Amino acid sequence: MTDLTTHAPGAKGSRLTGAALTRETVASSPDVLRPSGLLAAKGLQQFYSPPEAAELVGRVLHAGHCNAVDLTAGDGALLAQWPREQRYGIEIDADQVAAGDYHAIHGDLQRVYPLVRLTRLGFRAVVLNPPFGLTWTDIHGKSINSTLLALRYGLGVLDERGHGVLIAGRDRFAREIADQPEARGVYAVIECHDLFEGVELPCVVAFFRAPHTRSNDTPPAWRTAARAELPGLVRWVNDAHGERCDYAPAPTSRRPAYGPPTRRAPGRRLPTSTRGAAGSPPRGRPATTSPCGPGGCASR
Ligand SMILES: C[S@@+](CC[C@H](N)C(=O)[O-])C[C@H]1O[C@@H](n2cnc3c(N)ncnc32)[C@H](O)[C@@H]1O
Repeated sequence: MTDLTTHAPGAKGSRLTGAALTRETVASSPDVLRPSGLLAAKGLQQFYSPPEAAELVGRVLHAGHCNAVDLTAGDGALLAQWPREQRYGIEIDADQVAAGDYHAIHGDLQRVYPLVRLTRLGFRAVVLNPPFGLTWTDIHGKSINSTLLALRYGLGVLDERGHGVLIAGRDRFAREIADQPEARGVYAVIECHDLFEGVELPCVVAFFRAPHTRSNDTPPAWRTAARAELPGLVRWVNDAHGERCDYAPAPTSRRPAYGPPTRRAPGRRLPTSTRGAAGSPPRGRPATTSPCGPGGCASR
């Protein structure tokens, strides 16, 4: 696997250097120090979103008109389309917090989230590109995959009218996420095989709303695209939204949304049903195309 640091300055990939190697980072998951495929350790999985993905996400999620949060923000690549004043993030690696230009909480999402949840903050834009393949611990002490927990926590801070996006490994998404209740609000999925330069891992960019805003059980729209095509897919994503979700007025603020994000009304819960609406890749897809087995080379 190519060392991503040549493409995204600051991104350490799976390398545990600098502030990526602290008591806190090692304690954040039993997988951080665990070897994986050709890698010496899974590390913190610092693979940063390319500008093409950030552009699409910014345009669909109304960058410039609302506050946005990234629960594992890295250097802030996925928040790049929002003005600085509107960017919020949580990040465990102090080097990334220092490199990023966003309002940051430095810490382990698993430890920070209960406090964030208590404040009942609601963001109109929630962007997620978490470590794909780490074992994390949920609020009840149960082991859970990091992608699924990030999505669950993302929904926990999503405003009623808000939009979200989750970047994930395609096979993991199909295997472990798509049929979960958390994924019921997913309305459009773009499968992208060259999303992360130098990483052989088919990924998905999945757009979602809060599950209860889905207006029908139609599976999400699903298509493939090359990374370079992503900025041109705004209309496709918006059409998929219109066909599957309740209308949500776009945020209208022309000025940066200074100040705290909105507070959500208490009492909203995730559905308990396990019916899946997020769909799966069309039948007959290979389980994995990565030479390193399920989950891909980076086992994200
Ligand atoms: C795949 S990168 C994505 C960064 C950014 N969201 C983007 O799209 O460019 C995942 C980030 O999560 C951070 N991370 C890993 N474990 C974490 C944890 N337990 N709490 C908070 N951040 C974590 C890593 O340091 C890394 O910067």
